[in-house]
Amino acid sequence: MVPSVTPVFGGAVTAYLHQMEPLITPADMQAVAVYLQSGGWLTEFRETRTFEAMLGEYTGARYCVAAPSGTLALFLALKGMGIGPGDEVLVPDLTMAASATAVLLTGASVAFVDIEPGTLCLDLAACERRITGRTKAVMAVSLNGRAPADLPAFISRCRAAGVRVIEDAAQALGSFAEGRHLGTLGDAGCLSFSSQKIVTTGQGGAVLTNDESLHHTMRLLRDFGRVSGGNDRYQTVGWNLKFTDLQAVIGTSQMQRLPRIVARKRAIFARYRAQLAEVAGAELVETNLDTTTPWFVDVLVDAAVRAALIAHLHGHGLGSRPFYPPLHAAPAFARAERHPVAEQVSARGLWLPSSLHLSDADIDRVCDALRAFMRAR
Ligand SMILES: Cc1ncc(COP(=O)(O)O)c(C=O)c1O
Repeated sequence: MVPSVTPVFGGAVTAYLHQMEPLITPADMQAVAVYLQSGGWLTEFRETRTFEAMLGEYTGARYCVAAPSGTLALFLALKGMGIGPGDEVLVPDLTMAASATAVLLTGASVAFVDIEPGTLCLDLAACERRITGRTKAVMAVSLNGRAPADLPAFISRCRAAGVRVIEDAAQALGSFAEGRHLGTLGDAGCLSFSSQKIVTTGQGGAVLTNDESLHHTMRLLRDFGRVSGGNDRYQTVGWNLKFTDLQAVIGTSQMQRLPRIVARKRAIFARYRAQLAEVAGAELVETNLDTTTPWFVDVLVDAAVRAALIAHLHGHGLGSRPFYPPLHAAPAFARAERHPVAEQVSARGLWLPSSLHLSDADIDRVCDALRAFMRAR
């Protein structure tokens, strides 16, 4: 029986704990109201520049280019690097489909590479073995804010070999490697602000880069190939990949409390970690909370019981979500190949409720339900 509570914002009137839901605060609402009263034109202008500047300052990236989504941020970065038909980009087999479909949108092809079991990110050694003359770039995805330990050295070797590295840091706002924010180690890094993300603008994304020339090209491509807005001097073939100021004010408002969001996300993970240590059958995928801001709380369970566990949690008013499929096996890609680690992790992985709405008591409730399920097996 799911108890009734006062809705936090609109819709839901039960205490069903969604696996994830955005937290929009009174400060965010106030920022939107102030902006709408200011007579702004809604489209990208000064508020977007402020949002980009805050992202640049927080991450340490010299340049930041906002985009309509994380997917289109990836597309913009790839196009900005000149990647297109005839080229190949290496992508981890376990990631959200957009890491691969952004590549396909450029006309380039995707080759999937297995992941490593510890971080669930690209197996860098397998990746290096897979590089051929056609490989123009590697898409290094930071799954749940994690990064392979030797990512900086790998990026150096890729650079030496003329292979670009795009960091898909869609899930990595607030996560660092060797003191640098993820997304700023490679040639470009992309963030996402979809409604599930650590900072959300509903939809949205951004490319981070320290490369001035890439930055210049991406700004052109984002605005129909025009040198500046308000004129129609098309320098190159481009698109409308602009952001909106209406979204930027929400993003800016959330960026102001990012340190608190980061602290709470880490505390949520730490509480799960402490409780799940005693739950046989649910293995938390470890993370270094000094450097990583867990987006989701991920556990591995016996593949044979996962569906029953999801149903059990649902019956207790608790949302959860299975990991992504191994992309090579998804009907969209359907490749006759094997990536054993991605296959096993995908079959066993489950994301537990992870939103900023969670109270400590909520986390305890999830862990109690998990414990009861495992004991009853
Ligand atoms: C790893 C990864 N890459 C790319 C994306 C796509 O971002 P968006 O939904 O903003 O297009 C996501 C979205 O969840 C993601 O998790």
